[in-house]
Amino acid sequence: MCGIFGIITDREQPLGPILIDAARRLSYRGYDSVGCATLHADRTIDLRKDVGKVDDVAARLDFAAMTGRRGIVQLRWATFGVPSQINAQPHLDSAGEMVGAHNGNVVNNVELRQQFSAEGMIVRSMNDGESCVHAVERHLRRGCDMVEAIRRAYDDLEGDYAFVIGRADDDRLYAIKKSSGLVVGLADGATCISSDLPSILPLTRRIMRVNDGEIVILHPDRVELIRVADGEPIAREAEEIVESMAAAQKGGYAHFMLKEIHEQPQVARELLHLLNASAQVAPFLDRLANARQLYLIGCGTSYHACLLGAVYLAQLAGRPAIPILAPQFIPQGLPTVGPDDVGVFVSQSGETKDVLNALYAARQRGMTVLSLVNVIGSTLMKESEIALPMACGYEISVPATKTFTNQVLAFLYLALRLGKHATAELARLPDLIQETLTAAEPQVNAIAPELAAWDDLYCLGYGATYAIALEGALKLKEITYAHCEGMLSTEFKHGPLSAVREGYPVIFVSGPDDVPLLVSGINETACRGGHTIAIGEDDDRLRANAQTLIVLPSSGPLLSPILAVLPLQLLSYQLSVARGYDPDFPRNLSKTLTVD
Ligand code: M6R
Repeated sequence: MCGIFGIITDREQPLGPILIDAARRLSYRGYDSVGCATLHADRTIDLRKDVGKVDDVAARLDFAAMTGRRGIVQLRWATFGVPSQINAQPHLDSAGEMVGAHNGNVVNNVELRQQFSAEGMIVRSMNDGESCVHAVERHLRRGCDMVEAIRRAYDDLEGDYAFVIGRADDDRLYAIKKSSGLVVGLADGATCISSDLPSILPLTRRIMRVNDGEIVILHPDRVELIRVADGEPIAREAEEIVESMAAAQKGGYAHFMLKEIHEQPQVARELLHLLNASAQVAPFLDRLANARQLYLIGCGTSYHACLLGAVYLAQLAGRPAIPILAPQFIPQGLPTVGPDDVGVFVSQSGETKDVLNALYAARQRGMTVLSLVNVIGSTLMKESEIALPMACGYEISVPATKTFTNQVLAFLYLALRLGKHATAELARLPDLIQETLTAAEPQVNAIAPELAAWDDLYCLGYGATYAIALEGALKLKEITYAHCEGMLSTEFKHGPLSAVREGYPVIFVSGPDDVPLLVSGINETACRGGHTIAIGEDDDRLRANAQTLIVLPSSGPLLSPILAVLPLQLLSYQLSVARGYDPDFPRNLSKTLTVD
């Protein structure tokens, strides 16, 4: 979840303060390093970058003193290469005469770096942002002009990215977009470009949106758009932004929760890139394989990811794992663990006190501490022998959504690898998530008004969807304030069934292999007057028996549980809004629970 910003002005001036401000506005995306480059009239480039928070790095490297006519700032969130000064962006070309930074992932980065070195270029880092610079350099060396070099680089660089680049002996900035956000700002005496709108709005409200496959040439007083496909210019009118800064930060969505739900295809894609490239995965798998006892430890939503992770590890790798709530690990797990045992601690924030308590107790007994954690630099990340980052960027809304999906995806990936299965099938997941969100939204909207009137409901699942039912129920109660209980579907008849009366909503989450069992529960509920809502792949048995079916795209038993959580997230959101609450900031709760 990197962020980029570039600016070109009509005169040499202090650019540091503008770049620092832009970096602060990009920082909500999540990052581990920050860097600034300015290009001067005397054809020199000033590049300063390091690992750390914007304000710390800016103070340490004195960004405020940076001057020039053109400037670039980038926040990096490590995917290719560890967080380090050398991997931080922007990057220089071989001769130090061109500088650029990117946002996104170049998936053929490893192969390209080898090619660039073989072609005599100086490759200094592991980072794919540097590959964007060398990809342009390669074609300049072959005699292309800058626009032609960028057009050809676009074909060489596979993946989803946007980058901004400038040459010392040129007086423009250039940018390109391929499936990663990019927007232009047109101010008085300056134009700028950024991966997102909020970093532009303090400078101007006149903007121009950039589409995939377009090159932007920035001049101080205008921009040119060029189509990559044929090199032809594109005419586009500027537009005036009327929305507030707060609305812009929500990316056009009414709430952060909805924005974060819709970010799931992208963050899943980013996590897969990260896991495929990570040097940490092999030692992580080695610890899992050799553990005497394996515990998966978390709280709330992160615990639900552990529940599903344990199912995947058992089914795909034959690896038993014990999912456990972090505070319960202390009385129940701790007495039997020692140096041969491994705990995978799962946390979005990496700061949850219940999780850290369990971690410190486990370490005292010599247990190996691994983690799946979203917030880079968090205590959990620092305290872990190996931490796999979840690549979600900041999750602002209190209800966890995108981080759950990526935690589960990480477990699925690890289980497949541990069981020596191919992971290629996972590449379908981002598109399937998108398809599910698109299809589920109207279906959820159709039932939301009726369900919003109920203060009690149940959410049931079985096998892999048991964890999804618990997660759906947590989401529903967290932001609608209704009582919603998640349960193994087979347990419903052992007591809770007595609560069912006319219209009582009971949601059944069904994996493709569990339909017959779920259908029994559906009928037991329906014949007592309950409103049965099934979430599952299209199936005649579900259609025939459930009153309402929310259809998931066909994806099979491994991916279907991940897709099933999406309608539940959307339903929770819709019910929260319908009941007049703010889903982003539910009462009595905080995003990070640093208390016992
Ligand atoms: O940051 P963590 O993942 O450790 O947080 C754990 C829980 O507090 C968290 O998942 C909570 O349940 C969410 N707000 C649920 O949406």
